[in-house]
Amino acid sequence: MSSHLSSVLPTTLSILEAAVRRHQRVVFATSLGKEDMVLTDLIGRHGLPIPIFTLDTGKLHTETLALLDDITARYAIEIERMVPIQSELDVLAAQQPFAAIFESVEARRACCNARKVRPLARALEGATAWITGQRRAQSITRAHLPLSEHDAAHGIEKLNPLALWSSEEVDFYLQHNHVPINALHAQGFPSIGCAPCTRAIAPGEDERAGRWWWENPEHKECGLHGNNVNNPRRPLTQLATTSRTV
Ligand code: ADX
Ligand code: SF4
Repeated sequence: MSSHLSSVLPTTLSILEAAVRRHQRVVFATSLGKEDMVLTDLIGRHGLPIPIFTLDTGKLHTETLALLDDITARYAIEIERMVPIQSELDVLAAQQPFAAIFESVEARRACCNARKVRPLARALEGATAWITGQRRAQSITRAHLPLSEHDAAHGIEKLNPLALWSSEEVDFYLQHNHVPINALHAQGFPSIGCAPCTRAIAPGEDERAGRWWWENPEHKECGLHGNNVNNPRRPLTQLATTSRTV
């Protein structure tokens, strides 16, 4: 284990344990991606009372959904599936065809809003903190990600206990602990979201290059992490001048 991992791993575990002590209800949002499997393993391995949910947008790959059963088999944990409200999808469909997400950032965000952001708000009802698997190194929008922040959109604490981990450390942890992962990772998908909005990347490309690949990097947030784009340390004008990675 690298010396950095041997320092960030105990920090991550301490953050999870402290969250359980400090909060009546702290929940974990898993996209079933690699980072979230690290956190799922830590929660399962240490028996932490942190309910886990996933935002099942109705557009996830079958390989992603298959991981739900693997998690239950391995850790005896049931992941709650938060689905969009059908009437909200109907309103959206009346406003824009699905393919509009490829035409404008606004249309894409409207889809993310109905399928992810609003279900997230329902999933966080009654919680005073939530946990994500975000890392600083994932993208320009996350470069200043704190370990803990106030989530103004939901009025609760938001914890990013993997903020300081590198991609290599995530891979090392998963392999070393034989953690189940999404079969798509072996097919060139380091970062996985909804199927229509995720594609495999070429060797050497940025790890999030396959997410919303038709958009500029500064737009590549779906609304779950509003602080990343509203952070005063990273004005949008500054982000907008950053060169594209795809
Ligand atoms: S995002 O742009 O889709 O939000 P990413 O896939 O990097 O980015 O996910 C970052 C974190 O957001 C995940 O670690 C997880 O905590 C949360 N998240 C993203 N997608 C989902 C999802 N479908 N269900 C639950 N949590 C999610
Ligand atoms: Fe819709 Fe794509 Fe957002 Fe999924 S990632 S909610 S399919 S726009």
